[in-house]
Amino acid sequence: FYVDWDLMTAEKAGFDHFMLKEIHEQPKAYRDTMGSRIDASGERVVLNEVKLTPEQIWDIHNIHIVACGTAYHAGLVGKSVIEQLARIPVEADVASEYRYRSPIITKHTLVIVVSQSGETADTLAALREAKRCGARVIAITNVVGSSVAREADDVIVTWAGPEIAVASTKAYTSQLIAFYLLGLHLAQTLGTQDAAVIRETIEGLKKLPEQVEEILNHADDIKQYAEQIASHKDLFFIGRGLDYAVALEGSLKLKEISYIHSEAYAAGELKHGTLALIEDGIPVIALATQEQLLEKTVSNIKEVKARGAHVLGIALEGNHELGKAVDLVFEIPRTVPLLTPALSVVPLQLLAYYASLALGHDVDKPRNLAKSVTVE
Ligand code: AGP
Repeated sequence: FYVDWDLMTAEKAGFDHFMLKEIHEQPKAYRDTMGSRIDASGERVVLNEVKLTPEQIWDIHNIHIVACGTAYHAGLVGKSVIEQLARIPVEADVASEYRYRSPIITKHTLVIVVSQSGETADTLAALREAKRCGARVIAITNVVGSSVAREADDVIVTWAGPEIAVASTKAYTSQLIAFYLLGLHLAQTLGTQDAAVIRETIEGLKKLPEQVEEILNHADDIKQYAEQIASHKDLFFIGRGLDYAVALEGSLKLKEISYIHSEAYAAGELKHGTLALIEDGIPVIALATQEQLLEKTVSNIKEVKARGAHVLGIALEGNHELGKAVDLVFEIPRTVPLLTPALSVVPLQLLAYYASLALGHDVDKPRNLAKSVTVE
């Protein structure tokens, strides 16, 4: 009698792949990343690891967010979160571009670098350039003691736990949680939001883990859809505002592990060229979680439908208007508009996973890619 198992199988805890395990670990990653950073009253964020004094926060004129790949996509959401909550101007850059555009960095600039591994060469180089120019640097990273963590002035650790799959999932969503906490921390100090807005956002944050669980309970719907799209060569993701930022991440995830070509487009940009590529039967995934932009997004959906696209809408629960405009709908639970990316990205992660699986690819180790990119 012997037990046939290896360490990797044991570490997958019953899941077929690390990626699927990590997608399912997101509720825990959200809870752990929020952890004691929300005080017992539920009315305030306590971000003790950010040592900036209120005077230093008042002294910030602008913020640069710098990162690569998925971490950059988290930074795009972070830009909106900080601008909306703290009303500080934010730019987000891909790290491999940042240094070469001579960014205007002063001692009044706060630079936020985002890196799961904390070892990405371009991100580390951007951090060093920011410090050389006198900026204060906050790192959002998943690895305590990584190069980025050691060299930054302040570190917000995402407590996602080790991420093994090359395609990042729980690290991305934990980075979103870190941005929500930081945005709230800055807003509290600057007094840019009413106490009610802070309270409502914190309440929304606390509900996210169980809302992700609800989405995961419907993974089979996404699996079926993934099997349908797996035979397609091209696919589009469209959305406006925060939905566009999530569309970029959904498209990257799909390309990275299923090798299906896809593009993410700001829905309003389609008619400036891309509409020419929409032909009969092409799958379009339309994210429409931002109710203030819904009417405009629906009109963009009509533009692609008129050219024969088959549209899957990602919508808030009970959004009948969108339901009428698309071929299929995947609903996500309702939350504060700013928090929707932490939910809407989950079906897109599952889509990439199941499409890759249907095509028989190596989900956890896609071709040509490494988990940590330590060359520029
Ligand atoms: C994500 O799925 C990718 N594997 C990749 O874009 C990654 O996010 C990027 O290389 C940045 O890595 P980092 O977060 O470790 O810096």
